[in-house]
Amino acid sequence: MNSEPLLSYRVSAEYRGKGAVLRDVQFEIGQGEIVGLVGRSGEGKSTIASSILGLLPLKGGKCTGWIHFQGRDLLSLRDGEMRRVRGKAIGFVPQSPLAALNPNLRLRAQLDEAWRAHQEGSPDWKPLLQSVSLPDEVSFLRQYPRSLSVGLAQRFQIALAILHRPALLLADEPTSALDSVTQGEILSLFANLNRRYGIAILYISHDLASVASLCHRVAILHQGTIVECGLAEEIFARPQHEYTRRLIAAIPNVPGRSNLDAGGPSSDESRARGILAEHGV
Ligand SMILES: Nc1ncnc2c1ncn2[C@@H]1O[C@H](COP(=O)(O)OP(=O)(O)OP(=O)(O)O)[C@@H](O)[C@H]1O
Ligand SMILES: [Mg+2]
Repeated sequence: MNSEPLLSYRVSAEYRGKGAVLRDVQFEIGQGEIVGLVGRSGEGKSTIASSILGLLPLKGGKCTGWIHFQGRDLLSLRDGEMRRVRGKAIGFVPQSPLAALNPNLRLRAQLDEAWRAHQEGSPDWKPLLQSVSLPDEVSFLRQYPRSLSVGLAQRFQIALAILHRPALLLADEPTSALDSVTQGEILSLFANLNRRYGIAILYISHDLASVASLCHRVAILHQGTIVECGLAEEIFARPQHEYTRRLIAAIPNVPGRSNLDAGGPSSDESRARGILAEHGV
C-alpha cells in the first residue's frame, strides 16, 4: 500500500427520527486496495457508502467528521463539486442492478448518458464491454435492461461504474441478488478490474466468505462502530472480537469458489481458501 491512503474515513452519522447509526467509524483504503466492509443487516454498511457518495442528506441523514479523498474532505464539498466526484472518481455498484437501471433507455443510451455526465462525445464502447466480459456487438447495446439476466445487468452496472476509470469503486452487496455461480464470476471480475486498472474497491457485504476470497483487508462493522479491522487472513485465523467469531462460525459455504479459479486474485484468493479450509468451510 502507498503511504498516503486513497480514502481516510472518520464519520458519525444519524437519520432523522432514528438517532445515531454510525459512531465514530474509522477506516482507510489504500491506493488500489480492496477493503471488505462486513456486518449483518442494519449495522450501517449502506450508510457508510451513502456518506462517501454525499447522498446521506437525500435520505434524511446527516454526518459529522471527515472523509479525505484525493487531497480533499468530501464532507466539505459543495453539491456541484460532489457531483463531479460521484460517478467519476468514485464509482458505485448497487445491490439490485435491474432496479438501478433506467427501464426506458436502451443500454447504449445509458452508457452515453453516464459518459456525458462528465465528458464530451461518445466513445467506442467495445473495449469497455470486453473489460467486463459483456457481448460487444451493436445488437447488445440496442437492448433494454428488461431483456438482461441479473448477472448481465450487474456486469452492465459495473461497466457504468468504471466508465470514467474511477480511483475507487463502492460495491454495496453487489452479488447478493445473484446465484452462487454468477456470484463467483462477478467476484472474479472485481479482482480483474482491481489488478488491471488498479481500481481500489470498498466491497460491502454480509457474506464473510466472498469477502475472504476477494479482499486484502477486512473491517467488521457492529452496532455502528468498526470492532475489528485487519488483513483478511489474520481476521480469519485470529478473530479478536466475539461478533467476528460469530460471523465466521455462521459461514455455510464458499460461494463461487470454483469460478474464482478462472482468474480471481490468485495469491490472495488461494490464501483466503487456505484460511477458509483451516476453518473447515
Ligand atoms: N433513510 C433512513 N431513515 C431512517 N433510518 C434509516 C434510513 N436508512 C437506514 N436507516 C436505518 O439505519 C440503520 C443502518 O441502515 P443501513 O441501511 O446503513 O444498514 P445496512 O448494514 O446497509 O443493512 P443491510 O445489510 O440490510 O443493507 C438501520 O437501522 C436502518 O433501519
Ligand atoms: Mg445495506
